[in-house]
Amino acid sequence: MSHYPSISSLKKNGKSILVDWSDGEQSKFNFLWLRDNCPSEVHPTARERTFNLLTVTDDIHPKSYKVNDKGELEIEWSEGDHTSYYGNDWLRHNCYTLKSKKKYISPYFLWDQSMESNFEDIQIDYEEIISGDDGIKKWLEQLHYKGISIVKNAPIEKESGFDVIANISHHRETFFKTPFEVIDIPNPNNSAYTAAALRNHLDLPYYEIAPGYQFLHCLINNVTGGESVAVDGFKVASYMKENFTEFFETLLETPVKFVNRDYTSNAIRVMHKPLFSLDHNNDFNDIRFSVAYMGVMDCDPDQMDKFYEAYRKLIALLHDPIFEINFKLKAGDIFSFNNRRVLHGRKEYDANSGERHLQGYYIDRDEIIGRLNFLNKINP
Ligand code: OGA
Ligand code: ZN
Repeated sequence: MSHYPSISSLKKNGKSILVDWSDGEQSKFNFLWLRDNCPSEVHPTARERTFNLLTVTDDIHPKSYKVNDKGELEIEWSEGDHTSYYGNDWLRHNCYTLKSKKKYISPYFLWDQSMESNFEDIQIDYEEIISGDDGIKKWLEQLHYKGISIVKNAPIEKESGFDVIANISHHRETFFKTPFEVIDIPNPNNSAYTAAALRNHLDLPYYEIAPGYQFLHCLINNVTGGESVAVDGFKVASYMKENFTEFFETLLETPVKFVNRDYTSNAIRVMHKPLFSLDHNNDFNDIRFSVAYMGVMDCDPDQMDKFYEAYRKLIALLHDPIFEINFKLKAGDIFSFNNRRVLHGRKEYDANSGERHLQGYYIDRDEIIGRLNFLNKINP
């Protein structure tokens, strides 16, 4: 038995059918929308739409329509010798009238320095991950909602991170190779490959789409210094939006230039994008911030004063201790985070005091959300 309300009555209204539901709601369904979404015209295994909308005219309409004895909306179309059947559950689930009235609720839980006293909310044991879907789901939920998760007690063999992240999906390759080796080396092509402090940043901002998630797997870390820092960039964006609205808007509207001139690869990577972007719900989509890869700024000369005022404020907020959490990675930790939301940084360390070696992996955001959607059995 379907848990959706049943169809009580139907009537035509212009280019739509109005459905009255048993719970008193009313929905409007456009003829072309109905024809285009006929549930029979989906490939059974590819799950792709097979119908070609251009095979019918703008004037397509029901020749007849009714609620049939299965409780479905049954439409015989004026064109194409086709009858469509829409179950009440399908129709109600996909009802855009009711969906458009729903208020958007952000999935993101924004955090600040106080998260330091709730570390267990952003941690998961490796054993939980490998023991099945519930553990993987917990990991993905921390990643998607809070943007951060520290896996504890993972193996510490080189490249063992591959198997751990394979519980989610395939990795995203970059010219730094996979895994990328975060160690202190001569002639580094990235300042992470030194013992110097790293200001809070995200990786690869000079790509059109910077990697969605980053996984820093700690194999050994017994040096003096080298503590990690994380900041929820969406929290800072939301604070800025509320308290420094004009600065926020300036940054949202002003493309900046990111440049990478990697000396080991024959490429010069340049990307113009604003420091913040919003999604189709006006929620935060990404923050793109890395002082190290900021190119020389170009903009309308009349906008430069305004830009620098806002940009300085952003830098200050992104390094303000009220937003930072601090921790030191231990062998077997995998510091996993949304690379387009959570900024990461590192304190300087003494390379002569011991050994520090992290191996890094990236995964696209689509794979994190797609896998979580699958485990939650969502019906989009
Ligand atoms: C990096 C990075 C942080 C660290 O490799 O991108 O920022 O703790 N590393 O070494
Ligand atoms: Zn980094």
